[in-house]
Amino acid sequence: MANKAVLFYGLESIAEAGITDVGMIVGDTAAEIEEAVGDGSKFGLKVTYIPQERPLGLAHAVLIAQDYLGDDDFVMYLGDNFIVGGITDLVDEFRGSRPDAQILLTRVADPRAFGVAELDPSGQVIGLEEKPEQPKSDLALVGVYLFTPVIHEAVRAIEPSWRGELEITHAIQHLIDSRADVRSTVIKGYWKDTGNVGDMLEVNRTVLEAMERRIDGAVDDASETIGRVVVEEGARIVNSRIVGPVVIGAGTLVSDSYVGPFTSIAENCRITDSELEFSIVLRDSSIRGVGRIESSLIGRHVEVTPAPSVPSAHRLVLGDHSKVQITS
Ligand code: G1P
Repeated sequence: MANKAVLFYGLESIAEAGITDVGMIVGDTAAEIEEAVGDGSKFGLKVTYIPQERPLGLAHAVLIAQDYLGDDDFVMYLGDNFIVGGITDLVDEFRGSRPDAQILLTRVADPRAFGVAELDPSGQVIGLEEKPEQPKSDLALVGVYLFTPVIHEAVRAIEPSWRGELEITHAIQHLIDSRADVRSTVIKGYWKDTGNVGDMLEVNRTVLEAMERRIDGAVDDASETIGRVVVEEGARIVNSRIVGPVVIGAGTLVSDSYVGPFTSIAENCRITDSELEFSIVLRDSSIRGVGRIESSLIGRHVEVTPAPSVPSAHRLVLGDHSKVQITS
């Protein structure tokens, strides 16, 4: 998001809230995460890695972190959640009143993709359901939870759900059933679970919108940068038009191209003779001579080039659940 990992925004919020120790549950991307986060010192945190053999659920994550957590109160923060405004107020409130657990809710258009809460007229949580087909409200569970050690007994008491996961939603429901004090706060600020490309582009847009213009790299006389454009030191813009909000990472060269609103291009990319808008390009990628690209997410070390000739047939290698639009 604007050339910074979603996870980093989360870690910054955690540090800002005065938390110093982070137990990071990692799966098959452990090596990449460790490479990016290290010992956490660059965030002012002490990070300990806790491997989870398979994605067995959020309550399972709590289960395997129990030795690490001991008798401490803790925040569980899902690494793919993006919350504008951080969690400091929430953590302060929890420290002050110390209920058994505190959850965060937000109103969403389609709650079926989330955990959903039902509140009584006084605002007390009376029920939680994970991804219900017929949601009882439009209040989705945000992926930030505050717990006292009573959650440990709850995660041991529940059974796996239909998707084979130990759901934290069910563990919290268990607390409610055992008459524990579970409080909720409805957040008004911007929140997204960055689980798909559309959400990622949206979050990127939100972060870019809040940016200030800053040109530290080199922009030649034949180029134009309009509005909130960040060109990092060591980036070069040659014979191109950049219309913000846009961020261009260090070491990236944009030449003979147009880069339009809500685009972030990370470090050491090459964009040549192309048009790019409302897109995310991760580091070390190159896009050359391909016309216009929109609403796209391009990973690291990717090469996008023109096909040698106009194909008479399309040759496709598509993963499960792909959606492709082809001009016929
Ligand atoms: C998880 C939780 C869900 C919550 C969501 C927030 O969903 O199970 O209750 O609303 O995070 O991001 P998952 O990412 O496992 O689909």
